[in-house]
Amino acid sequence: MVFRNILSRESNDIHLIISISYNLISYPTNQKEKTMRTKIIAGNWKMYKDINESAELLNSLKSKLAVLPNGVKAIVCPPFTSLALAKELLKGSPIALGAQNMYPEDEGAFTAEISPKMLRSVGCQYVILGHSERRQYFHESDEFINKKVKKALAAGLIPIICVGESLQEREKNITNLVVTTQITGCVQGIPASDIEKSIIAYEPVWAIGTGKVATPQQAQDVHKLIRELLAKLYSSSTAEKVTIQYGGSVKPENAKELLHQPDIDGALVGGACLKADSFTAIVQAAV
Ligand code: 13P
Repeated sequence: MVFRNILSRESNDIHLIISISYNLISYPTNQKEKTMRTKIIAGNWKMYKDINESAELLNSLKSKLAVLPNGVKAIVCPPFTSLALAKELLKGSPIALGAQNMYPEDEGAFTAEISPKMLRSVGCQYVILGHSERRQYFHESDEFINKKVKKALAAGLIPIICVGESLQEREKNITNLVVTTQITGCVQGIPASDIEKSIIAYEPVWAIGTGKVATPQQAQDVHKLIRELLAKLYSSSTAEKVTIQYGGSVKPENAKELLHQPDIDGALVGGACLKADSFTAIVQAAV
């Protein structure tokens, strides 16, 4: 249709014909890459579940998610105290293990901190970095998070890099600026080959733990912005490979619509991951 309209124009519009037909050719390629992105659902347990409660939840998840839907990955991120147990209990399960934080040094006199190597040794493949609760309560800067991202990647961990604006920032209409600044700072000096395997989680702070989920369109708009930013910082082919999760009051009831937006490749789930039934339902909603 577009083509026919163009071809009926005067011949001095030849340049227009060439540029638009180029888009028509390149579009399906991007679409193909887009549909190939695996959906990744991660559960951030935050500071919930002691060792007994963790065992109960892990056993229940292991049986409910014995087989994951095609094209979907599931990750659990329990507190540090339950990671070794999780490694044992998840043996033979397709559910992967992640941590909620780490310190960006290999080892040393850093009382109470946990290194990337320690996380690897308890079976972690992923690590959440720069969660808004870490930024807010522990004053983590983009620069510090950037250091963590580099160390995580060097240790073979996949970082889940969290960004998102506060309510005040959204109301001031500076969401794009905030997210752009956070991502630019967090990925500084990281090569495309490492970014392509990393995960970015867009978590608007006003939607975390509040029950106020972003509308699918609000979330999609920021995810698109993030992908466009990655295309500028790297290339569109790199941007198309990056998994961008949405987080903030994701529940079984709203998961399907969110997860089927073109630039939403998964979810980082808080409250709803603490029950096996609701986490399982969100994983199922990804297909
Ligand atoms: P909720 O799903 O409880 O809003 O938490 C989201 C979150 O912070 C995940 O990291």
